[in-house]
Amino acid sequence: MSVAEIFETMAYGPAPESAGPAREWLEAHGPALGHYIDGRFVPSADGATFEDQDPATGQTLTRVAQGAAADTDAAVASARAAFASWSRTPGHARARYLYALARMVQRHARLLAVLETLDNGKPIRESRDIDVPLVARHFYHHAGWAQLMAEEFPRDEPLGVVGAIIPWNFPLLMLAWKVAPALAMGNTVVLKPAEYTSVTALAFAELAGRAGLPPGVLNVVTGDGRTGALLVGHEGVDKIAFTGSTEVGREIRRATAGTGKRLSLELGGKSPFVVFDDADLDSAVEGVVDAIWFNQGQVCCAGSRLLMQENVAPALLDKVRARMELLRLGDPLDKAVDIGAIVAPVQLERIRRLVAEGVSEGATVWQPSWSCPAEGLWYPPTLVTDVAPASTLAQVEVFGPVLTAMTFRTTAEAVALANNTPFGLAASVWSESIGRALDVARGIKAGTVWINCTNQFDAASGFGGYRESGFGREGGREGLYEYMRPSWEKRAGSAAPPAAQGKPSGNGKGNGHASEAASSNASRPLPAGDVVSQTAYLYKGKPGPGGAPVLRDAAPDSPDGDPFAAYPPLDRTAKLYIGGKQARPDSSYSRAITALDGTVLGEVGEGNRKDIRNAVEAAHKASGWATTAAHGRAQILYYIAENLSARADEFAARLAALTGVARREAMAEVEAAVERLFTYGAWADKYDGQVHATPLRGVTLAVNEPLGVLGLVCGDRQPLLGFVSLVAPAIAMGNTVVAVPGERYPLAATDLYQVLETSDVPAGVVNIVTGGRDALARVLAEHDDVQGLWYAGGDGDEGTEGARRVEALSAGNLKRTWVLDRPIARDWLDLAQGQGMEFLRQATQVKNIWAPSGD
Ligand code: NAI
Repeated sequence: MSVAEIFETMAYGPAPESAGPAREWLEAHGPALGHYIDGRFVPSADGATFEDQDPATGQTLTRVAQGAAADTDAAVASARAAFASWSRTPGHARARYLYALARMVQRHARLLAVLETLDNGKPIRESRDIDVPLVARHFYHHAGWAQLMAEEFPRDEPLGVVGAIIPWNFPLLMLAWKVAPALAMGNTVVLKPAEYTSVTALAFAELAGRAGLPPGVLNVVTGDGRTGALLVGHEGVDKIAFTGSTEVGREIRRATAGTGKRLSLELGGKSPFVVFDDADLDSAVEGVVDAIWFNQGQVCCAGSRLLMQENVAPALLDKVRARMELLRLGDPLDKAVDIGAIVAPVQLERIRRLVAEGVSEGATVWQPSWSCPAEGLWYPPTLVTDVAPASTLAQVEVFGPVLTAMTFRTTAEAVALANNTPFGLAASVWSESIGRALDVARGIKAGTVWINCTNQFDAASGFGGYRESGFGREGGREGLYEYMRPSWEKRAGSAAPPAAQGKPSGNGKGNGHASEAASSNASRPLPAGDVVSQTAYLYKGKPGPGGAPVLRDAAPDSPDGDPFAAYPPLDRTAKLYIGGKQARPDSSYSRAITALDGTVLGEVGEGNRKDIRNAVEAAHKASGWATTAAHGRAQILYYIAENLSARADEFAARLAALTGVARREAMAEVEAAVERLFTYGAWADKYDGQVHATPLRGVTLAVNEPLGVLGLVCGDRQPLLGFVSLVAPAIAMGNTVVAVPGERYPLAATDLYQVLETSDVPAGVVNIVTGGRDALARVLAEHDDVQGLWYAGGDGDEGTEGARRVEALSAGNLKRTWVLDRPIARDWLDLAQGQGMEFLRQATQVKNIWAPSGD
């Protein structure tokens, strides 16, 4: 072709990247790549390997070890041994290691990028310019967090051994998202890469060894899902961090239920890409290219649903089709290629099957006129129209280059359509009106919303899902909590009564459980030396920290001056409290509540499945609470506190009669409950978000949003304070709740009805259902319209089983669960255990809104 002809057609010539050094690396480490355990490469214990192909050619790239139980055992043992010293390595030293890893990635960027492209099939332009630089950025960023950990998180400590299981779409980047924060916070790691893309994890591990990372701090065990399952089930693993399909996420949720293992899940999505009629359509089209044809659409947050305002839909679709004609698909090592190969035959098959299903449901499919290469695994960019909101291609994650286009008329319709899948990972909103865009961003249920941009990622900003897209965040300050636990757990665990010491926790490690008898009775003495609430100090006859104010006279124990004498136990029947009204239980049964001496103190309704469903419905109806100004929520919490305080004697008398605690302790509990309400009234308008320091010109706003409807299952210990300690932070953050009081002393909570009624709490914000606690917890766990579930069921055997069941059943809609009484039951009077940031974090989920500035 002559220069003149090239000038005329403007056709691209081939611009291949050399695969030479990458192939040399593979050869030097072959014929089969081993696991990386304890600082060196080792073959599988049973010698098993499998083939790893280059998806662009279908040719064998190398062979990879298939991990068996002996391999995961060896890796976990190595990580456990390394944890002892790594967790005590000063933050500054860990920061230096992470910095060295970042530098190492930069020095070997080209090798890593080419290996990634050969193994995964993604265009070299993406692995070279996006994946690998972001990997380096993650290690730099987290080197900083290692440096700052002691200062910024003085009350937290590392978890232990982290099992990281990652997918094939961003092999090295997903490694970085997990390994960087885990190591920074002092954990050690066993990583299992996806079976189609193991190469760069091994190359990275080797580089880490060269950077001087101590053996065992990072181990890589390769293999398929069976190896992943071995890691998930391993007793020596303290946390599983998983990214992958929603189905496997569910399996892992069930497998880890009740084990005490921490879990974060980053799952699938069907993210909306919303274009309003005032959007810059040409920019939006480039956004579409990025949203759905980046990495062949094999992106968990791919903008796979194009939602267009009806009046601009024809023009927009014309532009999209014209742009699709110009996309270049082919050899991923060619620097001028836009779309590479599909990772594996099974994935290609899945894409074909789902598109065929869509067509059979009436969808119209449009593809560009050019054809794909004959060899290798390819799927052309595809536009699908004539799709109903409930159809397969509007609901199911294709994980391929398939864009489903639909229309809407109004802003409200756009938000409803955007939220019309079970997922909630990401969204893009395109409009020149910032007011509209921000409003829509707040309305969409997703962990990340990009305004007039898409697929922006940075280590300083958290990434993760709402709803069935999983829970937990990766990146930013919010991502660090996935790799730490509060230090009090260990302190309190070691202070457990001797009889309870040594009893194994759920996963066979960690702290002993306190026995149920020791933990559930509110008469246990206040913990010596711990920080307890200021008012609690009053009743110990000590001044509070900094000299606690005397809120009321301490109740003497002598009968003479006993202010409770005027409040003999009353025989009362408490109904349920649903939608702001006292409601008879559906079963029409009641259960008697007795004092320790067997005297019947009252009765409470025997709630059942129907009552829980009614309560959840009432809680949803009260969803306006989430958008009530934080100041308004604060006022109501203070008001509840005031009204509780006015009836403190009565509540304390009830507590004393119910639980048999000394009256001064009962009064201490009531006052601590008043104080707790104040604490969360205080936080209601102060637990605000952040502006993350990402490279975006504009702002990345991290907004704390409520989860929605929270189920709160309370324990028997300190029954009033325990109840208030769950309800107050949950509603302070804008959630509405269905609370199940502890089974033994529910009257302590039901007495609060009148306090709530006189405190202007809107109907449905707090619903209370009494009855068999674990049976009710089960209904809440199974309920698909409950977004979160907190379970404080004591740490005895019953509580252990209750926690396991709650976690296992939550897999249905992947609601976020929080088991509060593991490894030991909380002492609600201890400020470290009973209140604080941990509660506020659990009551919220972070949404990151990226809003660029400029013309
Ligand atoms: P997958 O969820 O099966 O694989 C992800 C990782 O989990 C891999 O390392 C795999 O070996 C491991 N794994 C599989 N079964 C396991 C088990 N029982 N226990 C522990 N680990 C296990 O995803 P797959 O099969 O590769 O892709 C299937 C679909 O999943 C895709 O078509 C896509 O829709 C979705 N997907 C979503 C991803 C995301 O980032 N959200 C990533 C990968 C896949």
